[in-house]
Amino acid sequence: MHPVGRVGILTGGGDAPGLNAAIRAVVKTAGILSWEVVGIPDGFEGLLFPVSIRTLGTDDVRGIEARGGTILGTSNRCDPFAYKFRDGDQIRVEDRSGLALENVRRLGLDALIVVGGDGSLLLASKLAELGLKVVGVPKTIDNDLSATDVTFGFDTAVNIATEAIDRLHTTAESHHRVMILEVMGRTAGWIALHAGLAGGGDIILIPEIPFSVDSVLERISVRAEQARNFTMIVVAEGATPPGGEPLMVEPGNPLSPKRLGGIGPWLAATLSPRTEREVRAMVLGHLQRGGSPTAFDRILATRFGVAAMEAVARADFGKMVALQGASIIPAPLEAAIAVHKLVDPAGSLVRTARQIGISFGD
Ligand code: F6P
Repeated sequence: MHPVGRVGILTGGGDAPGLNAAIRAVVKTAGILSWEVVGIPDGFEGLLFPVSIRTLGTDDVRGIEARGGTILGTSNRCDPFAYKFRDGDQIRVEDRSGLALENVRRLGLDALIVVGGDGSLLLASKLAELGLKVVGVPKTIDNDLSATDVTFGFDTAVNIATEAIDRLHTTAESHHRVMILEVMGRTAGWIALHAGLAGGGDIILIPEIPFSVDSVLERISVRAEQARNFTMIVVAEGATPPGGEPLMVEPGNPLSPKRLGGIGPWLAATLSPRTEREVRAMVLGHLQRGGSPTAFDRILATRFGVAAMEAVARADFGKMVALQGASIIPAPLEAAIAVHKLVDPAGSLVRTARQIGISFGD
């Protein structure tokens, strides 16, 4: 049967567990609605240089809901509106958005599904302004997108971080140590807050609540007075050293963005001379993004994928599918990217944590 339309799908930005479940849901729904799906490799890079484009059928997505990563590949460096490339010794920047649109036309795509975080969805909305028929699907382990209650990838990251805290707890307790776990999240403290709560952290440090070293030391000594001979600290990579700036493992350069990290080891080095306890720090890093998604993330990604394909079929463009309460709804793309969703320091989760004695170092 002749397909009623042809939709492209790309996954952009850092990978997040659940991407494959979303791709599978799009492809399966498209099959039922008689649409053809074209997989674009490596995010927006693949839209500018469409060399390994392939049609995706149900055989291509069978069983991938349990797999981490993305079968399409991704890239968190490519911006078609400011495409950066090396030209001899020079780094040049060019607006290649016209080429992206031209390629959509050449590939015969009637619409494009962009699965991404704030960066990719911003690009999607800018392309939408130029006339591209686009539907967004929110993913990120950081959970920092507005308009949706939660993004897929977050639950898996929280579960991995929670397991790490559980494991670090037993060794911290045995050695009577201060143990620090640094988790991801960019400038939002969602992963640290959720995993710290679930794993029974004693101190949670997040970007949204400025902390002092004295207050952290105070909590360590109060615990010692209560015969609690160890302390578990969970710190978000974006938490800021008092009076300073967030720490970077890479300051960034014209070809690659800056990367946050290092607050855990910084805190260990800062606390160590001021406490009798031994201090150890661990940076959990990309383990939080790798491997199989949780059942929650598989289900959410599947719901998003189905809803995105349904939105394409009814020509509801310029939207991002979003979870609001129990429903998946189409939200304007601009609403998703307008505000960076951060932890509310006066919100219910922080209050709950404080009520059970967790310190935020403030
Ligand atoms: O946005 C997801 C994320 O994992 C952040 O939490 C982290 O700061 C960043 O990506 C790491 O980026 P990269 O994969 O480029 O090291």
